[in-house]
Amino acid sequence: MNLITSASDSTLIRAARPDDIPAIARLDAKSTAFPWCEQQFSESLASHRLYVLEIDGVVSGYLVYSLVLDEAELLNIAIAPRLRRRGHGARLLEYFIEANRGVANRLLLEVRHSNRSAIDLYNSHGFVKQGVRKGYYPTSYGREDAWMMVYEY
Ligand SMILES: CC(C)(COP(=O)(O)OP(=O)(O)OC[C@H]1O[C@@H](n2cnc3c(N)ncnc32)[C@H](O)[C@@H]1OP(=O)(O)O)[C@@H](O)C(=O)NCCC(=O)NCCS
Repeated sequence: MNLITSASDSTLIRAARPDDIPAIARLDAKSTAFPWCEQQFSESLASHRLYVLEIDGVVSGYLVYSLVLDEAELLNIAIAPRLRRRGHGARLLEYFIEANRGVANRLLLEVRHSNRSAIDLYNSHGFVKQGVRKGYYPTSYGREDAWMMVYEY
């Protein structure tokens, strides 16, 4: 389903296409020290659910999740750095929640415990911390914990 999320700036959330992959990978490279490569996004396009947030025709964010039985797992989400703090991340997360309403019973995700902005975003949308995976993520200085978070419909 396509969703026009704002009438004021023609923001659109739509299913990603193969020709979006380079733009998505560039965006990811600006968003994390450990980005996915184009092939990983291509594989996600084939086997997961990959959506882009387009502003005035430009890919400005993306969301990827998997759906297995009654659980949907958020695998990645990012907004272009220069467009953050304008509500676009919240729009993508709300899309994820609404797209799975009546489909999944719960939503799962893992997030670096140092990623305050993402944790605040998830908390403010009803996700709660469910557990910790010690040393799950690589960092420039070693490893850091992942927070496992869950949203129950
Ligand atoms: C996390 C991310 C997607 C949020 O996108 P965004 O468009 O900036 O988010 P929004 O403007 O919709 O913010 C929604 C809420 O998230 C929280 N938030 C977002 N950025 C924040 C920041 N820098 N510091 C604290 N809270 C923040 C706030 O609660 C905010 O609500 P508020 O603006 O009313 O205070 C974005 O920061 C990003 O792309 N980060 C890099 C990729 C990443 O870390 N992804 C998560 C992987 S698990």
